[in-house]
Amino acid sequence: MTYAAITGWGKCLPPAILTNHDLASMLDTTDEWVVSRTGIRERRISHVGLEELGYVAAARALAAAGLPGSSIELIVFGTCSHDDQVPNMASGIQRRIGAQPAAAYDINTACTSFLYGLSTATALIRTGVVRNALVIGAELISPFMDWSDRDVAVLFGDGAAAVVLEKSDEPQGVLAQKLGCYGESREILRVQGMGGLYANRGVLYGVTRWQFEGQEIFKRAVQGMSSACDDALAQLNLKADDIDLVVPHQANLRIIEAVAKRTHVPMDKVYVTIQDYGNMSSATVPVALCDALEAGRVLPGSLLMMPSFGGGLSFCAHVVRWGARTKPIQVSSVDLPPNDRTALEIIRECLARKQRASAEAATPAW
Ligand code: ACO
Repeated sequence: MTYAAITGWGKCLPPAILTNHDLASMLDTTDEWVVSRTGIRERRISHVGLEELGYVAAARALAAAGLPGSSIELIVFGTCSHDDQVPNMASGIQRRIGAQPAAAYDINTACTSFLYGLSTATALIRTGVVRNALVIGAELISPFMDWSDRDVAVLFGDGAAAVVLEKSDEPQGVLAQKLGCYGESREILRVQGMGGLYANRGVLYGVTRWQFEGQEIFKRAVQGMSSACDDALAQLNLKADDIDLVVPHQANLRIIEAVAKRTHVPMDKVYVTIQDYGNMSSATVPVALCDALEAGRVLPGSLLMMPSFGGGLSFCAHVVRWGARTKPIQVSSVDLPPNDRTALEIIRECLARKQRASAEAATPAW
């Protein structure tokens, strides 16, 4: 049987750090509220575009796999915060890594986009369409954030990570998965201002309003992630005890704890990064995977479980068998251009641009 082993991994976190205290200087919130309700202490704010974040992560993942970009046959870019819808993000990465004429497409299921991309890339390798793939989860949420809305502004951050998959005869990579969606609940998370609904209606692209029912999302997230974990484990006749490490989507520490409790996994087997990055949407799981590898929490042959949920409301869980190697073959010298602004300065520029643009635009359709 053919499998799709994960042989390379790399992350890219922009250097500017936005703390809860920084946010409390511009919003009616406190560090104590954000930490106690979400577990988040700080997040990153990018000084570059999404393609740049994705490219640096991709170059690092390729080096870790010891593969030249020119050998890649498929690029899947998971995101909901595109630089452009047309051309897509994946084609930009294809050009930057020199992978012509690899297939290159984007996937958007919000926060689950990386894992849905992992599913499709794994399927294309296992069915012989391609021999390898680069799967990226990258988000630049900050330009689309409504920085005047404390309900959402404290929750998200920017970041990117990527993995390389290669055809293998060993039972590695994704062994079982459950994908699903609660479409009937899709209205509980909507970012108004990011799509064709708003085009030519007096709403400027990127001037957003977040329709966000936090408690309802919380409930559906716990339900979707824990049922998907049960389903994926049952496919392999495994129990929660058989899992070595859970690398979950990180939107709220209390959601992670509730999922761990429902799936009977102790928290010391759950890798938590939310305190450092907040919710980076599709980048969250692959960044946490890279951090877990760096911290020595992924061992040769480890069995990992990766549950996630996102807008839609999409949900999923993947059971992944790690291979023999937990260290990169090479280390890439590719890096982001230098940044000379603080996270607050980047956000304030963003806010000022939006205020100027909004003042010039007609009254929004909403
Ligand atoms: N600072 C201070 N107070 C706040 C803040 C803030 N940043 N935000 C809300 N509050 C207030 C509310 O106004 C409310 O005040 P009130 O009682 O006077 O009305 C109070 O805090 C409690 O608000 P709740 O919404 O009940 O707080 P809750 O405990 O539910 O936590 C939270 C809110 C953190 C949003 C939680 O519901 C959550 O994490 N939900 C899931 C969010 C999520 O996962 N988002 C991403 C989903 S999709 C994706 O990942 C792309």
